[in-house]
Amino acid sequence: MEDILGKEGNNFLEFDQALRPDSFEAYIGQEKVKENLAIIIEAAQGRGESIDHILLHGQAGLGKTTLALIMAKALAVPIRVASGPTLKKVGDLAAILSNLEPNTILFIDEAHRLNRMVEEFLYPAMESRKLHLIIGKGPGARTLSLDLPPFTLIAATTRADLLSSPLRSRFGATFKLDFYNNEDIKEIIRRSAKLLGVEVQSLAVEVLAKSSRATPRVANRLLKRARDYAQVKSNGVIDEEVALKTLKLLEVDEIGLENHDREFLRIIVETFNRGPVGIETLAAALCEERSVIEDVYEPYLMRVGFLKRTSAGRVVTEAALAHLNIKTKEQRMLDDYLK
Ligand SMILES: Nc1ncnc2c1ncn2[C@@H]1O[C@H](COP(=O)(O)OP(=O)(O)O)[C@@H](O)[C@H]1O
Ligand SMILES: [Mg+2]
Repeated sequence: MEDILGKEGNNFLEFDQALRPDSFEAYIGQEKVKENLAIIIEAAQGRGESIDHILLHGQAGLGKTTLALIMAKALAVPIRVASGPTLKKVGDLAAILSNLEPNTILFIDEAHRLNRMVEEFLYPAMESRKLHLIIGKGPGARTLSLDLPPFTLIAATTRADLLSSPLRSRFGATFKLDFYNNEDIKEIIRRSAKLLGVEVQSLAVEVLAKSSRATPRVANRLLKRARDYAQVKSNGVIDEEVALKTLKLLEVDEIGLENHDREFLRIIVETFNRGPVGIETLAAALCEERSVIEDVYEPYLMRVGFLKRTSAGRVVTEAALAHLNIKTKEQRMLDDYLK
């Protein structure tokens, strides 16, 4: 599985590889998705076929890549890894597709960033296992049709809404990964602590879980930082105090908000009077790309009820004002007046 070493040049190989579960049993939570995938796998194996193309969508760090790897392992088939932005030309994809061993899983990460040309080239490959290549240019050009071995495309995306509908309709099944509940995150932290060989007390697990943004990747990251802190500043055991101090040092608050989240909310409150403010205006004010705001900033803020998307734009909620202890200009003027 040489591709796992990042030959396709994406961020596939994370340093927390050791913490990545490699079976459905070790993969915590997302029960419905696991159940569905297990059935798909068993049925396809029973028929001796390759499984249908599958689309996985959900926020970063929720376990999409991990699931693709688990499926390849469960099916005992090779997996090749590519990502939307690295497949720049039709030829890049053609080179991969025409060299697949039968039944390989082709994992395409960040599928919403595939360009149109590559996407259109992908449709017939998905549908009828054919590659249509155009050889030559101008009036002398001819198309060449190549048969492909059976393969399964597993595409992952944080933004299923950005996939073109012809692409979306060619998947046999689509699964959405949701944010994890607190119990699952706690279990992930305990599992990872065991793998890392560090003792973490139950109150510390509570503290770290609450700040993990309901996301396994974040939970693992906080756990590792707490382990460092415990080793350097304490006796190596992660207790409640170590957990709290780690978060303080990282400037992560008790529900997982970071500086950029607080800054984001503050700008909407102070500059735009809590909203509604349009996404483009907001992007300009923050000097951020719209996609970063939509993919990175907003999902968790909406999940904790601090931000609403309305037809008129983004609105910061009362709950956010209370949590951050900030006020709009109007509120401050009213306070002064009533003083
Ligand atoms: N269900 C899970 N149970 C345990 N650990 C998980 C689970 N999902 C994800 N992880 C951990 O979180 C990390 C990020 O998951 P990953 O699959 O890379 O997310 P995504 O591809 O959705 O961004 C993994 O390396 C793994 O250690
Ligand atoms: Mg991934």
